[in-house]
Amino acid sequence: MERLTQFLHAAPTPWHAIEQMEKILMAHGFSRLAEDASWSLEPGGRYLVKRQPGAMIAFVMPRRGSGYDTTGRETKAHGAEGPFPIHLACTHSDSPCLKLKANPCKKKGEHLVLDVEVYGSPLLSTWFDRGLGLAGEITLAGPGGQLRHRLLDFGEPVAIVPSLAIHLNREAGDGGKIRRHDDLSPILLHPGFFGDRDPSAIFRSAILECLATRYPSEMFSQCVPVSWDLSLYDVAPPQTMGGGAGWITGGRLDNLLSCFAAVTALAESVTERDQRTGEPGGAEVLVPMFACFNHEECGSLSPTGAQGNFLPAVLGRILGYSEGFQRSMSRSLMVSIDNAHGVHPNFIDRHDGNNAPMLNAGVVFKHNANQRYAHSTIAEGRLKGLCRSLEIPWQEFAMRADLTCGSTIGPMLAAALGIHAIDLGIASWAMHSIRETAGLQDVADLRRLLRRFFASG
Ligand code: CO
Repeated sequence: MERLTQFLHAAPTPWHAIEQMEKILMAHGFSRLAEDASWSLEPGGRYLVKRQPGAMIAFVMPRRGSGYDTTGRETKAHGAEGPFPIHLACTHSDSPCLKLKANPCKKKGEHLVLDVEVYGSPLLSTWFDRGLGLAGEITLAGPGGQLRHRLLDFGEPVAIVPSLAIHLNREAGDGGKIRRHDDLSPILLHPGFFGDRDPSAIFRSAILECLATRYPSEMFSQCVPVSWDLSLYDVAPPQTMGGGAGWITGGRLDNLLSCFAAVTALAESVTERDQRTGEPGGAEVLVPMFACFNHEECGSLSPTGAQGNFLPAVLGRILGYSEGFQRSMSRSLMVSIDNAHGVHPNFIDRHDGNNAPMLNAGVVFKHNANQRYAHSTIAEGRLKGLCRSLEIPWQEFAMRADLTCGSTIGPMLAAALGIHAIDLGIASWAMHSIRETAGLQDVADLRRLLRRFFASG
């Protein structure tokens, strides 16, 4: 599980998570497709398309083509079989966090602090008293207006949000309210952020200094940061604990655990097939596909979110846009993978005891009568059938009838594509905390299930 902890540590933002996933796929023979280029997809070819920030789609063409040409006409060679199905696994790369505002620095008292916005729904109390790093993407303009886009990660604590001492706030232990605008400004403690210039000049020079260390062959002194997507994260690395299967605790397990399981399963399923058949290439009769989206934590409505056009656009380029597309979707399957709530022993009354999954006790199938999770009995049956044949245990999750549950990208994607879909995932504790906990056996089981899902027709 060292690979998993390295992956999590190297992915403080969706930008970085996509780079990490790309690395894994490239090491398994995948090649990049650019959205602005014309595509020529080879039978058995392995491809990935990135749409930063935070989105990527990877897929393997069947050995005998998709069955339809790009205009949607059936090609002769595959007419009898019709268009090939897609086995699609979907995740999200973003996690709740504090994000930098456009004017990112200000003075509070004698201190320089970061001006932040709350992204998604973090458990705010967990953001206090942590060494916070700063990472994301930055766009720089040179003297002639030329632009450079660079990923950035300080890789060390730059700031902290200290709690107010108990002696100054006797009610703190009783769950006092956190004022989002006033209480959450991270105080800058990094040497790069000191000086007596104005806050924005200090911010600019600290950013340029960090870039100069990360990209030593480039000159940044004439550049000005003009746009950024930077967020704070807990620099403490993820840790594994416990004997036997064990547990993992760390930041962004929702939903990087699912990303890791899906991307490694796709890469390994292709390699396993090569070894089995002695020939390179994808599955005989289906397109295994992994799609990762950004902005799930704030509703998914963006070009890189699950409500955007990324997935339909890529599917259209593979399958054509007319009858072939619809026929393919009607025989395809989708799993939407996101973490589930494992039963918390201190709060057993918050769970429906009859539908309450445990950590390290199997893959969790999620259910909600009001379509907050994707559900099709066909998709559920197929996935549970795979679990059964692999001897992977599974569990069921439903909220108490008097509590409302969260949602996932499953229902919106299933609705947009008209595809049989099911929501499943790994049970975890403390969802949306700066550090969450999950079971390592569950990660292994999910990977095994997805490997078979990607390989089975
Ligand atoms: Co999630």
